Amino acid sequence: MSDRFETHQHDVLIVGGGGAGLRAAIAVCEANPKLSVAVISKVYPMRSHTVSAEGGAAGVIKPGDSLDEHAYDTISGGDWLCDQDAVEAFVKEAPEELLRLEHWGCPWSREPDGHIAVRAFGGMKKMRTWFAADKTGFHMLHTLFQTSLKYDTVIRYDEWFVTKLLVDDGRVQGAVAIELMSGKIQAITANAIILCTGGCGRVFPFTTNANIKNGDGMALAYRAGAPLKDMEFVQYHPTGLPFTGILITEAARSEGGYMLNKDGYRYLQDYNLGKPQPKPVLRSMELGPRDRLSQAFVMEMEKGRTIKGPYGDVVHLDLRHLGEKLISTKLPFVRELCLKYQNIDPIKELIPVRPVVHYMMGGVHTDINGATPLPGLYAAGEVACVSINGANRLGSNSLPELLVFGARVGRAAAEFASKHTTPSAAILAQAMDESRRLRKQLLEKTGGGERIATIRDEMQKAIENGAGIYRTGTSLVETVTKLRELQQRYRNTVLDDRGLTFNTELIAAMELGFMLDAAEAIVQCALHRTESRGAHQRTDFPKRDDEKFLAHSLVYRNADGSSRVEYLPVKITRWPPGERVYGEPSQTKDAQAGR
Ligand code: FUM
Repeated sequence: MSDRFETHQHDVLIVGGGGAGLRAAIAVCEANPKLSVAVISKVYPMRSHTVSAEGGAAGVIKPGDSLDEHAYDTISGGDWLCDQDAVEAFVKEAPEELLRLEHWGCPWSREPDGHIAVRAFGGMKKMRTWFAADKTGFHMLHTLFQTSLKYDTVIRYDEWFVTKLLVDDGRVQGAVAIELMSGKIQAITANAIILCTGGCGRVFPFTTNANIKNGDGMALAYRAGAPLKDMEFVQYHPTGLPFTGILITEAARSEGGYMLNKDGYRYLQDYNLGKPQPKPVLRSMELGPRDRLSQAFVMEMEKGRTIKGPYGDVVHLDLRHLGEKLISTKLPFVRELCLKYQNIDPIKELIPVRPVVHYMMGGVHTDINGATPLPGLYAAGEVACVSINGANRLGSNSLPELLVFGARVGRAAAEFASKHTTPSAAILAQAMDESRRLRKQLLEKTGGGERIATIRDEMQKAIENGAGIYRTGTSLVETVTKLRELQQRYRNTVLDDRGLTFNTELIAAMELGFMLDAAEAIVQCALHRTESRGAHQRTDFPKRDDEKFLAHSLVYRNADGSSRVEYLPVKITRWPPGERVYGEPSQTKDAQAGR
């Protein structure tokens, strides 16, 4: 690693160049064109995970729909753990942001008469999901990227990896990062830092998430003293391809796809999700919420009604009745993925699918403007927990979330940065210490030691077994013990590669460290929450307990590296806790109550 130690200075530093990061960068520039904005990303921005989002982005646009209905669907879908002030702001600003993206060039799919087309999505009572065929994230990310290029004040650090946040005088003032091409360790100082690094799906063995989603931002914030919120809520998407975990979008079900068990039976009718109808019914059967559908898969497996495959049990997604024309126009990417990765054609064949870790409802604790409790530190997108997703996010709420809260956080950080000044001398001393630590603990360490891949595999197995779709106190305690052992062994990892140029082994080692912290947070929060709610299902505590747990978990890192969990009440504005009811709208309690 090079001896040269350089420092770069900016007003706002954004870590992560995906949808939230780029939207935040644009918002900073719009709020104050004089501010210098750094966007640092471990991958080229167009390779960020936003690019792989498929199905769409929810926002009220059609007559007959309302902001209150979008809010209610989101809150009931989240099993009443959402902060309702945040949800109200979100549903109001989502259509404005989606329209803004249209003006910036996003090619939304259209009705024949030119109006924006919308599709149904799971758990939503109205069709309100905007889409760009089934490559929505790809088009949104392109639009944001090309828009960000307009601003000369945005300086990009592509393929740089942040190792530590620098905190002095009670506020965040910079970060240490490695330039992957040269191996140079450098400090980037800033008056405000925004984390937009996405989630941590790679903590689990089977996920739709790209390899880059390792909880980097979560661990950076946690180590710097900010709490993580609601980490126990891990979303399994019901339809991933076996082995690869590649997402088969919910849009396939919204267009009319069926979920079939080994007998060719639409088994979701047995799980309080309504009865089969000739056409898909909103909030019913295949269009139920993701937590319920993934839990139904496990129950179906326990009844012996799933199909055994080389990569575990699967059920089938049947699109054959939709026909070639619909599949080719509305689901072309689904067909491409099935052909490339499964060697099957969904026009003629059944698609094997199983639940797969997809999204973290939890993340860095922020307020409604993305501010964390640590002054100068902000977060938006999947890395953050605002919280609009509560205990279970509805499909198609995350893309508008990254726009709405990316814009909010950009404005808030711009204001903070304008009022604060350049870093203290102590920050630069901390940066030098971090540089020495990286050399000593990773690059210059010799001798026999643990391998990264071994620890990573053991971590993934432990968390899937102990904190998967269903958890118990016993399984969680076992996982806590295993993670402690892995944390110890992690200190003995030794790298084979001591090169400076694109040392991917070094990056994998640091990512593993971040994932171990994220895993610890997930398991501790899950252990302390002795109830079942949304995606957190404790078979030893099967009921929701609003008296004790209508509250967010906040997990803090103690000075000795251990953690502690505290609680924060959920903000309820207009929708008191109720029962989550899905099925045919005409028969549900929601409908009877006129909602
Ligand atoms: O199924 C999907 O297209 C996923 C969408 C989402 O997670 O919002």
